[in-house]
Amino acid sequence: MKERLRAPKGFQDVIPPKTFIWQHIEDRARKIFKNYGFHEIRVPVVEHTDVFVRSIGENTDIVEKEMYTFNDRAGRSLTLRPEGTASVVRCYVQNGLYTMPAPQRYFYTGPMFRYERPQKGRFRQFYQIGAEAFGVDAPYIDAEILCMLNDFLSDIGLDGLNCEINSIGCNKCRPGYRQALKAYLLSGLDGYCEDCRRRYDINPLRVLDCKVPSCIEASSDAPVITDYLCDDCSAHFRKLRKYLDSMEIKYELNPRLVRGLDYYTGTTFEITTVHPGSQNAVVAGGRYDKLVEEFGGPSAPAVGFAIGMERLVELVSDMDIVKEPGPGLFLICLNEEYRLTGIRILRKLRFSGLWCEMGFGASSLRSQLKKADRAGARYVFIIGEDEIKAGRIKYRRLSNGEEGYLPLDDYENMARLISDERI
Ligand code: HAM
Repeated sequence: MKERLRAPKGFQDVIPPKTFIWQHIEDRARKIFKNYGFHEIRVPVVEHTDVFVRSIGENTDIVEKEMYTFNDRAGRSLTLRPEGTASVVRCYVQNGLYTMPAPQRYFYTGPMFRYERPQKGRFRQFYQIGAEAFGVDAPYIDAEILCMLNDFLSDIGLDGLNCEINSIGCNKCRPGYRQALKAYLLSGLDGYCEDCRRRYDINPLRVLDCKVPSCIEASSDAPVITDYLCDDCSAHFRKLRKYLDSMEIKYELNPRLVRGLDYYTGTTFEITTVHPGSQNAVVAGGRYDKLVEEFGGPSAPAVGFAIGMERLVELVSDMDIVKEPGPGLFLICLNEEYRLTGIRILRKLRFSGLWCEMGFGASSLRSQLKKADRAGARYVFIIGEDEIKAGRIKYRRLSNGEEGYLPLDDYENMARLISDERI
């Protein structure tokens, strides 16, 4: 036998029945995001490398260690997108979407690629559903986005997640905080991990995000950004909390929530599970008011988030509440000849929008009924000798055994019956 080929490490297949949970989550997101005025946007999975370097930041883990970057045949450096926001901003500027009335709201779904060490809930190809709102700096939009997330998560049965919010300030107030934090860190710098000692120079705020227990311990008394916010950032953050309170959206303040991408300004948030294990962030996002300008566009404040699909699917599937319904009909032909009539019926019913299956092979009525049951069918239709002679089909509702007959060409009533409408 030939050697079996396998998907690369960190890349996985999504196969039924799990696909149904994926589709269910995506359908609900589309529906709910639409209620909030978000339109779908589709951007390429490959961008010029600079799109990510300029936005996520040269000294971040993603850009330094995790990008799938390659030269195309003409020697241009391209990168498989590690996240969606940078691409959406590039698209927003390139297509002049800022000329539309604000806020312009977009959502996207699709695969992202990061060369991370694969583990539970962490992959090299993973899917995100993301949403971005442009053109409004009012905290109302931040609150609206968090409200939309709240609606969406409770719609799919995930009420108990933890929402943490913070503000990481702006160009005016963050430098002061950075200085105070550096002064604090310097006194015990030797006690921090190697990564943190490196971060001290280039991005000291990231020290607060380190998962190494000794670093968490050492930085536990560090100054917090919320004590250093300027009046504008402070007022924005206060107003956001008021809006959330007014909509009865639960959240916790986490002044250590700094995020690992450089483009954030002001509001940041994360929605996490209390599940054990470190991959517990299911949603993450925040404001990035300067990124559109950074990409050569006009001044256009923006805020958004991305949901990690694999992590969400795992939570929903653990709860065992989303199940794909079976076919409306499982058609049983008791003789190969009757299949000529059977496929005509199937064609009509499928064309009218119904999911219908038919038993194959020469198995007995008993074993075909078992198959219908296993498939979770609502009805079986049986075509045997008696039925063909009498020009009718026998139906049986599997949940209660109710039986009856319909003329062989009464497709309309067959369709009604399968759809559980009165006939
Ligand atoms: P992020 O925190 O890098 O933010 O990713 C968002 C979410 O994607 C994470 O919370 C997690 O659920 C999921 N995720 C990230 N990496 C992996 C991985 N290797 N395997 C599985 N899931 C993963 C962003 O991507 C920003 N673009 C979010 C954003 C949008 N901010 C503003 N707008």
